[in-house]
Amino acid sequence: MRLWGSRMGKDLDQEVAEFSTSINEDQELYWFDIIGSLAHCKMLQKIEILNQTEAQHIQRGLVQLLQNIEKNQINLNVYEDIHSAVEINLKQMIGEPAEKLHTARSRNDQIVLDERLFLREKIIHLIRGINNLQKGLLTLAQKYPTLVMPGYTHLQPAQPILFAHHLLAYFFMLQRDAERLKDALTRLNQLPLGAGALAGTSIPIDRKYVAELLAFPSVQANSMDVVADRDYVLETLNALSIAFLHLSRFGEELVLWNSPGFQFIIIDDAFTTGSSIMPQKKNPDIAELIRGKAGEVIGSWISLAVTLKGLPLTYNRDLQQDKPPLLRAVHECEKTFHIATRLINNIQPDSERMEAALQKGFLTATDLCEYLVGKGIPFRKTHEIVGSIVRELVSQDKSFQDLSFQELENYIGQLDQEVALVLDEKQSINRKQSEGSTSPQEVKKQFVIAQKLLDRWMAYNTRIEKEWHSKYQLLLSVE
Ligand code: ARG
Repeated sequence: MRLWGSRMGKDLDQEVAEFSTSINEDQELYWFDIIGSLAHCKMLQKIEILNQTEAQHIQRGLVQLLQNIEKNQINLNVYEDIHSAVEINLKQMIGEPAEKLHTARSRNDQIVLDERLFLREKIIHLIRGINNLQKGLLTLAQKYPTLVMPGYTHLQPAQPILFAHHLLAYFFMLQRDAERLKDALTRLNQLPLGAGALAGTSIPIDRKYVAELLAFPSVQANSMDVVADRDYVLETLNALSIAFLHLSRFGEELVLWNSPGFQFIIIDDAFTTGSSIMPQKKNPDIAELIRGKAGEVIGSWISLAVTLKGLPLTYNRDLQQDKPPLLRAVHECEKTFHIATRLINNIQPDSERMEAALQKGFLTATDLCEYLVGKGIPFRKTHEIVGSIVRELVSQDKSFQDLSFQELENYIGQLDQEVALVLDEKQSINRKQSEGSTSPQEVKKQFVIAQKLLDRWMAYNTRIEKEWHSKYQLLLSVE
């Protein structure tokens, strides 16, 4: 069923109809399409295109339609898109007044409105998903505030670090991901409606009023920009892509930590899978899938970027192709943030294995250098001395623990007993002083910062949603 057939001498070819429909995707936007129409209707009444009775009929019809859709009483799949589905059903329900609703509006600005309203909600939902993941990381970190493990560069043992410090590194990456989403939200939170097809309208519409009804802080300034661009979708997908790059690295580390080479963590059996042929297997598939999902999310970004590239202004039907990647990415991200949070709640570090790993790889070599710097030796010189001690020990298949005080003095010159502490891998973290470092007192500060950030998110998410929802309530409460 379509709304625009009179210009054509023929009915629409069936295959063409199926090829060009967007209802499979945009039916997910039905709620926002109807909320947008309720606001548009109020505005048309304000400027006297609709009289009070007509407006009331339309509003009641739209609210009824919303309920019917929610009760699954309407088969949306037979329409070209969600806008025609709403208009045609409204006409069937209330008759003639429905024909006035599309005054001063085009599907070109309507779809942008639907998407912006939808994305606004989804972004807050996604930020919450990230916050829960952050909370999971923080909780696990706080449970083991003094657990020491090897830190790596080049995947080679580098320096001792706190397990909590490592987890919090991801906390702060995710923090920026949430902020990027919030930035995207701030930019997309403008009213597009009123652009018409592209040039605006000769009808004296009141865009500021519609913006107020829908809790948009401002109206988009240029009608051609409104209908031509989808950068707000792209920007959201970009923020999600970066978040998923972070998640893929975390997934990879869980896979590594769970492998026989490391055995730093134990994943709860309910979060692992077996093999159909090898009975002994306990595989970390969920961590692998979290690592793997980045492909799909980044793919969505690329898909839309390529669609937008080189399109002439203004609206082109190509733009309809924004919905499959957008919806796919949003759904994947929602699911992945949730399962990743549950996975974090179901892993346990193996402190004995971590401790054993600390003995390999001369992790306190830099500590020894810094200790010697304290004795007045230039850093470059200390690097040379410690490097040759390590070379010697490697050739004898020994570690720092095998060195006697006397042997150390032979290498370095006169020392005090404190040097034994300097070489102790578990003590190393206590010597760190710089802000943001891995020392227990610095990591404790990070706990405080992290908790403050989470509290701030909670306040933001609730405040902004409340503001939208109270406006929606007003639109939905029709006498
Ligand atoms: N389904 C379309 C989209 O998503 C809605 C706008 C259709 N406009 C048009 N002139 N055919 O972009």
